[in-house]
Amino acid sequence: MARAGITSRRKAEELIKQGLVAVNGRVITEPGTVIDPDSDVVSVNGKPISLERSIYLLLNKPAGYISSVKDERGRKTVLDLLPEVKERLFPVGRLDYDTRGLLLLTNDGDFANLMSHPRYHIAKVYHARCRGKVARDAIKKLQQGILLDGVPTLPARVKVLKQSKQDTLLEIELHEGRKRQIKRMLMEVGHPVIELVRVRFGPLDLKGVPEGEYRLLTRDEVETMKNLALGTVDSRHRRG
Ligand code: URA
Repeated sequence: MARAGITSRRKAEELIKQGLVAVNGRVITEPGTVIDPDSDVVSVNGKPISLERSIYLLLNKPAGYISSVKDERGRKTVLDLLPEVKERLFPVGRLDYDTRGLLLLTNDGDFANLMSHPRYHIAKVYHARCRGKVARDAIKKLQQGILLDGVPTLPARVKVLKQSKQDTLLEIELHEGRKRQIKRMLMEVGHPVIELVRVRFGPLDLKGVPEGEYRLLTRDEVETMKNLALGTVDSRHRRG
């Protein structure tokens, strides 16, 4: 339990002494009991716990991969990019099949909930190339809120990075994650998305991670993300 990061060794021993730990339904009393994390079910106070270590990774997702653990249409999933990772990972939120960029994956359900819950508003930044020249009043609408399914989007930061007669490259910072949000917002103002990349999630960016590759988050990064979501650190990457 201590090795899996569930609790300290001392606390684990205490829980065992108190008769609160069971292996495959049978209460154990020996702190040194040997178990097989792949086949044994360990529970504390009647609640099964995961013995897998918690891992957190940042993937630079290419287009052409679905952000789920399997696809009934047989398309490649983001897990196909991580063949050597043994833990049962799942994506934190989603990027569309054709969207590229920063995607977090973890086996820690609490972390995933914290990152994805609309209540916590961690900033996500996208670069969206869209058709046509986006006029100033369209930018204003995108910033102030666009009605999607009858509900306005939250205020967003929008900046023009590059513009030509044919297309515009926008930087858009969102504080929520509604389905196909950027594509629908831009469609509503008459500028269909040609290409979409998520470049930042809170303080995390894609620096040093080429497309199709990944890196583990550091312990500090995981803590910072949790604190940001809970509002216990400064709110630069979070909505007030
Ligand atoms: N908005 C979209 O439209 N698609 C994504 O994948 C992410 C944000």
